[in-house]
Amino acid sequence: MACAYNTIFPSFLVLSLLISFSASSLAGGREPFACDPNDATTKGLPFCGVTLPIAERVKDLIGKLSLQEKVKLLINNAAAVPRLGIKGYEWWSEALHGVSNVGPGTKFGGDFPGATSFPQVITTASSFNETLWESIGRVVSDEARAMYNAGMAGLTFWSPNVNVFRDPRWGRGQETPGEDPVLAGKYAASYVRGLQGTDGDRLKVAASCKHFTAYDLENWNGVDRFHFNAKVSKQDIEDTFDVPFRLCVKEGHVASVMCSYNQVNGVPTCADPNILEKTIRGQWRLNGYIVSDCDSVGVYYNSQHYTSTPEEAAAEAIKAGLDLGCGPFLGLHSEEAVKKGLLSEADINKALVNTLTVQMRLGLFDGPAQLYGNLGPKDVCTPAHQELALEAARQGLVLLKNHGPVLPLSHIRHRTVAVIGPNSDVTVTMIGNYAGVACGYTSPLQGIGKYAKTIHQQGCKDVACVDDKLFNAAIDASRRADATILVMGLDQSIEAEGRDRTGLLLPGRQQELVSKIAKSSRGPTILVVMSGGPIDVTFAKNDPQITAILWVGYPGQAGGAAIADVLYGTTNPGGKLPMTWYPQDYITNLPMTNMAMRSSPSKRYPGRTYRFYNGPVSVPIWARNELHTLCTHNNHRTHCVLRPHRRPPTWRKHNSFRQGD
Ligand SMILES: *[C@@H]1O[C@H](CO)[C@@H](O)[C@H](O)[C@H]1NC(C)=O
Repeated sequence: MACAYNTIFPSFLVLSLLISFSASSLAGGREPFACDPNDATTKGLPFCGVTLPIAERVKDLIGKLSLQEKVKLLINNAAAVPRLGIKGYEWWSEALHGVSNVGPGTKFGGDFPGATSFPQVITTASSFNETLWESIGRVVSDEARAMYNAGMAGLTFWSPNVNVFRDPRWGRGQETPGEDPVLAGKYAASYVRGLQGTDGDRLKVAASCKHFTAYDLENWNGVDRFHFNAKVSKQDIEDTFDVPFRLCVKEGHVASVMCSYNQVNGVPTCADPNILEKTIRGQWRLNGYIVSDCDSVGVYYNSQHYTSTPEEAAAEAIKAGLDLGCGPFLGLHSEEAVKKGLLSEADINKALVNTLTVQMRLGLFDGPAQLYGNLGPKDVCTPAHQELALEAARQGLVLLKNHGPVLPLSHIRHRTVAVIGPNSDVTVTMIGNYAGVACGYTSPLQGIGKYAKTIHQQGCKDVACVDDKLFNAAIDASRRADATILVMGLDQSIEAEGRDRTGLLLPGRQQELVSKIAKSSRGPTILVVMSGGPIDVTFAKNDPQITAILWVGYPGQAGGAAIADVLYGTTNPGGKLPMTWYPQDYITNLPMTNMAMRSSPSKRYPGRTYRFYNGPVSVPIWARNELHTLCTHNNHRTHCVLRPHRRPPTWRKHNSFRQGD
């Protein structure tokens, strides 16, 4: 059973906190980033004075930098300042659900061949368990610090992605905690707390909530995210799009927010002082830095033609409140912008105060004595970390149908199992995007193989499933088995960054394979759907021969073990869907570009997410999220909270089964 929010602090977290606090030591022999005590030129300088207030140290350092040196610090690969004993720093690392090598700041190899790869966020969100989310953040930051200590990672991670999963086609919906704005905000705050630690102003690592705001479109009907102007009502901004970010900043105390590529109501988000300076910094009091998405300033100059010169583009961004550019643009054009009088050196100083303060909070200017300096290769992929990856997958799986009930399977009655489908023996598919290199994998086939003798057939060559060449062998396998498990769904070839889906059905001929097998199989047929976005599974819901449906998201490195544990009743699937599973019809006349959340019956506009859409859904209500967002508006302020749903009385019966049943 998933529960409501659990506030109990697990004891192993307290323990790891104590260990890390007591161990300020040399960081794995890595040369200090700055303030090396053996460097005579910086010895005694105030910015290296660990006992001075950070604000004073930052002011001292900025006072010593030339304009040329300053502009080279405005970008992700910040240049070294050898004159002051400061090394170069790569700001761009990622840790969406485990330390990732997507950004240039992190690499695997040597003593660090991999890191614990947790389920994709949409799966972890389905647990509705804040304690779990914070625990995952803490494990990820342990592994990140360990890698940093050996020179393999940075300390600034541009995660989590908390854009509201507004349209079911969005290729990056998998990265998010779903469609509920407060749930997304609670996820953000918990995960960020886990990543950043709770040592006062000190940062274990610095997280970043992205991408602010109204971004959930990659490429629809010729409109891409680099050119899209999201037209958003004030009400939807207040009680939908702002909410996760507001909670991330105010409750999670995140050290950074990233602005997006798109425009909101005609202004690129990274050039909008109302969004950056006034809202994020002014109203929400961000204690941290605002970073652009990668090359978004270049994008609004080159692709959106928002300004007529690159200097104006750089100046607008920095004056709007942007502190750091991902990509070279600000480094190339800011100095000229100052010379042309479009930007003052004081504006640049303001940006540097925000970035340098975060670097100092991370301890980068403290010389060789580093917090968490004891962490090393032994702290990555530990049995406890890998167990948490398995536990997260178990808590995130969602049972959508259990006719009979057929589940859990019995290892006595279901001794021989046909395991079929393009996702039945996958590994990297299970970790989704923004992943790293996993410690190891348990595929669904391997997991099920621990409980039963398996007969394996792909059924389709890949998830596109364009032909039926492999159907007969799969059908034959299902005739010989006591039960048939079909692991179908999507992967990054169907939904990904830069790639939205065009439909909600299982791709190609997958559905046909499932139905044929259900007809021919000797034992019960169980459909396991692996996908980030929702699938229209109406055909399977209505087919009495498909006895059970389980949605597993992208369940991470241990996904196959979790799937098998749930199918055989070792664990109870307690997850709930964090987004609505619409029927395919829903998108027929629905442009992705229409940002309105609320329905408009006169315009035949159905509205978006469970909060505003009341039409038919492809899976029953009891599988949907168990909490919902309630917003109140008064005195020009919007306040949103989570409230429990009322459930139909049959819900418990369908939604869970006891162990060993
Ligand atoms: C939440 O997750 C934690 C960590 O895995 C676990 O100990 C706890 O039992 C979970 N809470 C519920 C109610 O599922």
